[in-house]
This record gives sequence, C-alpha cells and structure tokens, in this order.
Amino acid sequence: MAISRRVKNTLKGASWVRRMFEVGDELKQVYGEENVYDFSIGNPDLEPPASLKKALRELAENPIAGMHRYMPNNGYSETRRAIAEYIKEESGLPFTENHLVMTVGAAGGLNVVFKALLDEGDEVIVPSPYFMEFKFYIDNNGGEIRLVETNDDFSLNLAEIEKAIGAKTKAILINSPNNPTGVVYSHDSLEKLGALLERKSREFGRTIYLVSDEAYRRIVYDRVKLPIFFQYHPHTIRVTSHSKDLSLPGERIGYVAVSPLCEDADELVSALVFANRILGFVNAPALMQRLVAPLQRNSVHVQEYEEKRDLFYNALVSFGYHIVKPQGAFYLFPKALIDDDLAFVQELQSKRILTVPGRGFGKPGYFRIAYAVERKKIEAALPGFKEIADKYRSQR
Ligand SMILES: Cc1ncc(COP(=O)(O)O)c(C=O)c1O
Repeated sequence: MAISRRVKNTLKGASWVRRMFEVGDELKQVYGEENVYDFSIGNPDLEPPASLKKALRELAENPIAGMHRYMPNNGYSETRRAIAEYIKEESGLPFTENHLVMTVGAAGGLNVVFKALLDEGDEVIVPSPYFMEFKFYIDNNGGEIRLVETNDDFSLNLAEIEKAIGAKTKAILINSPNNPTGVVYSHDSLEKLGALLERKSREFGRTIYLVSDEAYRRIVYDRVKLPIFFQYHPHTIRVTSHSKDLSLPGERIGYVAVSPLCEDADELVSALVFANRILGFVNAPALMQRLVAPLQRNSVHVQEYEEKRDLFYNALVSFGYHIVKPQGAFYLFPKALIDDDLAFVQELQSKRILTVPGRGFGKPGYFRIAYAVERKKIEAALPGFKEIADKYRSQR
C-alpha cells in the first residue's frame, strides 16, 4: 500500500461537501450549468472591493524592490501593525504587531495554532455541528477532537461543555458566526464560557485556551454586533482570514492574533512563527499581505448576503421547512423533512438542487445550504424545494 493507513482511513470518509460538489459537476455536464442549483460549497460569489483591485494594479505598475523575496516568518511588520491597530481599537487591549502572525488563510492558521499548542493526546473541545475539517487540523497536530452537542437552537450548551472538560483538555475551538448553522454566539453565553474556562483551568491546574475561528467575522446580519472573544477569556487566540470578508479564498491570506493577556504570550507567538515555518507555509503570500493591510475596516457588500438569506429563509419557512434563522455566515441549516438526511439530499438532487447532508457536519437529520450564489439561482431553485416539501407534507 502506497499511502499511510491514517490517510487511507481518512480518505474513506471523504468530505461530504466535496462529494456533493462532484455530484454537481456530473449534473452540470448532463443538464447544463445554468440548470443546476449548486448550494454545496461556501465559495463567495461577490467580487473583492474595487479598492483592492486598484491597489493591485498600482503595485504591479510601481513594484517595490524586493517585494517577492523571503520575509520574516510572521509576515510584514506594516501588515501586522495595521491589524494590531484595528484589533486594539476593537478590543481595548494593548495589541501590537508582536501579537500577530500572518497565515495561509484560516485553515493554515488553525494548523499553526494546534501545532504550537498540542501535545500528543491533548483534547480540543468543539461544539457540534461543526466544520469537519477541524477534525483533521487537530489530528494533524497530535490532538484529539472532543465533540459536544449544542442546544436545539445551536447555541452553546455550557453544561455539556463543562462535562467534556477534563485533565486532557488543552483548548476549546469556537466558530462564530458558525459554519454550518450561521449562528452567532451571544455575549451572555460567551461570558459564561469565559467563567467556566477560568474555573476549570484552576481546577485542573492547566490553562485552557479559547481558539476562536472567526472566518466569517464580518458576515453578520440584523445589525448584530459580533462579541469580541478577547474580552471573555484572557487566554484567547483569534484565527481568521480574508477569504470571506474580502472574497479572497483563493489567495490564502489570514492571520492569528494572540491576546496580550494570554499566558506566556511571547513564547506562544514564537511557537506559532516556528509552526508557520516548519509546516511548510514559511510565510503568508507576500502580495496579499501588502494589499489587505489598508483594508482592515473594509468588507464586501454584506447586505447582498443578508438579502439572499432573507429571500431563502422566508421562502423555505413558508414551504414548511424548520430552520434556526442564521445571523451570519452564508449558510442555512434546515431540518431534513425525513430522518435520513442523505436520502433527503438525494431527493433534492432529483430537482437538480445540490446541498450537503448534515452528517457531513456531525449532525444527521439536517442539511446545509450555502447561499453565496447569484440571487437568480436561489429564485430558480425555490420551486424545487417547494415540490419536495409538498410531497412530504402529503405523505405525513
Ligand atoms: C469555519 C471555517 N473555518 C475555516 C475555514 C477556512 O478558511 P480559509 O479559506 O481562510 O482557510 C472555513 C472555510 O470555509 C470555514 O468555514
């Protein structure tokens, strides 16, 4: 056997998102791209801000000497400084460029954080449903994922989190706004979480870190103000990227920020920089670091996503689907109308609608719709969703 058993076993359970994306490709070949309604993958459809394209052109026309060379593994000082200023203002904490490491997207950032934090067998608590790649990022770096159920409305279940914390717990990974549910965790629940982590850290004589995956941090609706994780727990590490807020997922640019209040912050940052180097990222893409530095307060036109959420959510609810209304990200996570989420997703495929079964996020019985697509695709798919809803209503 050419490949490791570990990878072989993982490949068997290949990503449901990717699998559905591939089914989509087959359908598109048969029916034509315009007749397939693909809500399988969260690939932002909005273009990056015009100012980014302008800066790109200016840089190409007026190149800076040495701009393609190696750099320190934590990234350009000017970029880290711009981000530190932004986070300092947002959190009221004394962030400097020394608390930041530029990374290859949030995915690269999470791997770097777990490489720096985890010893073999350390546990990372993750509320479920969850973004399945987390499992691999933790496993890559010697840790073990410990899933905890959320409440029916997908809010944090603090009693379950408390039960899961033990002597092996090194961190809790919280993703808000959440993929796949779109839920934004409340101020109240984070305050309780912070108090719980402090109490349990004391009880076990070991710091428990809060790792916040904020990949969707700027994609929030209903004038919701995203709570700043740094304010709830001193030992907090933010991982985020510009994949969604500036629509740059292919450019692989993100960062990790370590709270100035974090235990041994300097040592932790040194470990992150080392991990960035030896995991083979070396440094985040140079060109992108320059381009995103002045755009820390910018984002794509989030209202367009909000309008799509409203259109989709209101229509599906009127057809009889049960959905927790998302306050961020660009996903809906409705209950399937039959117990078997895979069979349900296949039913939708008969209407050329592609979604992902909830089992792909640790939550069978649900399915995920990624709606970062053209509005006309959503409008065209709605009759299919209605026909399936009507079919199951008449059978009940
Ligand atoms: C919750 C979550 N975290 C991390 C990522 C990875 O983002 P990036 O493209 O910045 O690596 C994604 C991508 O979809 C995501 O949904």
